[in-house]
This record gives sequence, structure tokens and C-alpha cells, in this order.
Amino acid sequence: MIDRTVPATQRPGPAHGHGTGPGDASPVLSLQGVHQVFRTPRGDVPAVAGVDLDVRPGRVLCLVGESGCGKTTSARMAAGLAGPAQGSVLFRGRDVAGMDRRERSDFRRSVQFIHQDPYASLNPVRTVYSTISAGLRRHGLVGDRREARRVTAELLERVDLTPAEEHLDKYPHQMSGGQRQRVAVARALAMNPEVIIADESTSMLDVSIRVSLLNTLGKLRDELGVGFLFITHDLAVAKYFAWDGEIAVMYLGRVVEHGPTPRVVNDPQHPYTKALIDAVCEPDPDLAHGRERIRLRSSEIPELTDLPPGCDFHPRCPLYEQGDCDSVRPPLVPGRDRLLACHVVNGG
Ligand SMILES: Nc1ncnc2c1ncn2[C@@H]1O[C@H](COP(=O)(O)OP(=O)(O)O)[C@@H](O)[C@H]1O
Ligand code: SF4
Ligand SMILES: [Mg+2]
Repeated sequence: MIDRTVPATQRPGPAHGHGTGPGDASPVLSLQGVHQVFRTPRGDVPAVAGVDLDVRPGRVLCLVGESGCGKTTSARMAAGLAGPAQGSVLFRGRDVAGMDRRERSDFRRSVQFIHQDPYASLNPVRTVYSTISAGLRRHGLVGDRREARRVTAELLERVDLTPAEEHLDKYPHQMSGGQRQRVAVARALAMNPEVIIADESTSMLDVSIRVSLLNTLGKLRDELGVGFLFITHDLAVAKYFAWDGEIAVMYLGRVVEHGPTPRVVNDPQHPYTKALIDAVCEPDPDLAHGRERIRLRSSEIPELTDLPPGCDFHPRCPLYEQGDCDSVRPPLVPGRDRLLACHVVNGG
């Protein structure tokens, strides 16, 4: 049985936790130049086009961007649910594509995926106990039924579903959305994961329930050293959960700005990040900082099957300059405190 009282900070591997910055531990999970293309009757859809991301123990990497920018596709590749068309997914430095059965099973256990909709991901005819203990048994982590119930109850307490005994024998329909999502988190946690990939996992919840679940996830990050690839379309949520971590902003399948959360949120540099922050300014005046709102040249997002030449953002960009902007795609390059993909703003 795994000893859940030993935080992952004391597991073998690099030191982590609240160290000197996002670069203070080697990544446990990496996307390296990953691409994904979907073949459709409308043509090939390049949903993800060369993304590099690192998830480190006990830290949060938040992927943000509008619907359709490739967040879920990136997350599915990171979780091994789909292989990249190009590029590699590395787990503890090993390419997932080259893993044998035992390594792959370890990877699948260590990297857990939590969906947006817990109702769809939980089996309606299984109780909470049955749902969570199935994984524990499958991986040989518990012996008899008594132990399975005890460990399941401990996991429910970890995710703040208390008193655990009251929830063990409930079915999903007898619980609220927030409680169901906590069951999904407990099921992931049962695998003693090193990384949790949370894809819009709080977006279907009411605000107060969302904050409470984010606090629970924050506890897992800090106390158990779980690394998070946290996906949201909502920058206010990113700011709340990933303040000590990093934000990568995606647009049309590529990362356009990536840096420490406070830098990206308080001083966005890429014109697209500025537009994205403007979009949430009204509900979160904190994010506005009295900045002038950005005026986009167009509100229309280009089709992935018909991308413009040059910078993908140029038809909408207020800083557009004739020349490079409409002929050369800007690479994502390091600036003073972040990575940026823009010919005009280079963050130097
Ligand atoms: N199975 C699929 N077949 C065809 N197109 C897909 C498929 N999955 C996603 N896409 C397309 O890929 C793009 C990225 O989708 P997705 O990764 O789900 O974005 P996000 O999670 O940021 O909303 C979208 O244009 C979407 O329509
Ligand atoms: S490269 Fe040009 S069009 Fe693209 S974001 Fe920068 S300024 Fe705007
Ligand atoms: Mg999605």
C-alpha cells in the first residue's frame, strides 16, 4: 500500500515545492514540439502545431486561450490519450512512444486526467466506493474490502468530502456537481499521481464551489507535491490557481506568450494576451489595472483549415505592421522574463 503520509517532496527525485522559481526542478512531464492534425471533410485541421511545455513536481502550468485553440488536444497528448502526429511526450525524461508495457502502465497511473464534466466521467451505476476502489484494486494498491474502504475514506477526506462515511455508498446522481468533481479528483488521487491534468475541471461549477475545489487542488499541489497541467479558458481562474506557477497562452494551436503568472497577468506583452485579459476585465477589475482596452482590428478568429500567412493573429492585431507580420510567422523566443511570439513586441 502506498504511504500517503509521505509527501511527494520526500519521494525519490528532484527537490521541488516553493523553491526559487518555475525552473527549480526537472520536469516530470514534457511536451516537446508536439503537433496534432485531425483529418476532416473540411481538410486537415492543425489543432496543435509545435507546442513545448514542461510540468514540474508541485508546480502549476496553466494553459489558457479561447475555445478551440488546442488546449484539450494538447492535454490529451500529455496524458497519453492520443499520440502526437509529430514531436514527443516525455515522462521522467522517457519518450512515452518508446515505453514498454510496464513503463506505460506506470505512466498512465502517474499522470491522471480530470475531465470538465464529472457527471460524464463517473459511471452512474457505481457508488463512490466502487468507483474509487476499482482503480486501487486494479493497481494492487489495497488488499481486502476493509482496507479498500478505509483507503477510499481517507481519499475522500483528502479532497474534503467529509464525513467520508456519508459519501462512500452514494451514487453520482445523489451528489452535487462540486461533490462529483471531488470524487473524480479522489479517483485520480487514488493512483498516487505525480501529475494531474485538469481540463476545465472547475468551469461547470458555481463560483464559490469552484474556489473551494481550487483550494482543495492547491492542497494536493503543496502537500503532496503533485504537478498540474491546469487548463482553463478563464484567466481569473488561472490567476487564482497558478499565481506561483506559469501561464502559457495559446492561440490557434500555438503558444504565443509563456512566463511566470504574475508577469503575464500584471504586464501582458503579446497583443493577444492583452485582448484575452481585456475579455475578463469586467468581472475581474483587478486584472484591468487601469490599462487602456485593446481594440482588435477584427473579432473573427481565422479557421484552422485556412490560416492567414505570417502571424496567425495579424488579421486581428492592433499592433500589426505591414511586412513581417503578414509574411513570416513569429517564432516563440525568450525575452527578459518570458517567451513571446511577436515581431513587434519582443519583451527584450
Ligand atoms: N476529433 C477531432 N476531429 C476534428 N477536429 C477536432 C477534433 N478534436 C478537436 N478538433 C478541433 O481542433 C481544434 C482544437 O480543439 P480543442 O483542443 O478541443 O480546443 P480547446 O480545448 O482549446 O477548446 C478545434 O478547432 C477543434 O474543432
Ligand atoms: S507579430 Fe505582428 S501581427 Fe503578430 S502579434 Fe505581433 S504585432 Fe501582432
Ligand atoms: Mg477543451
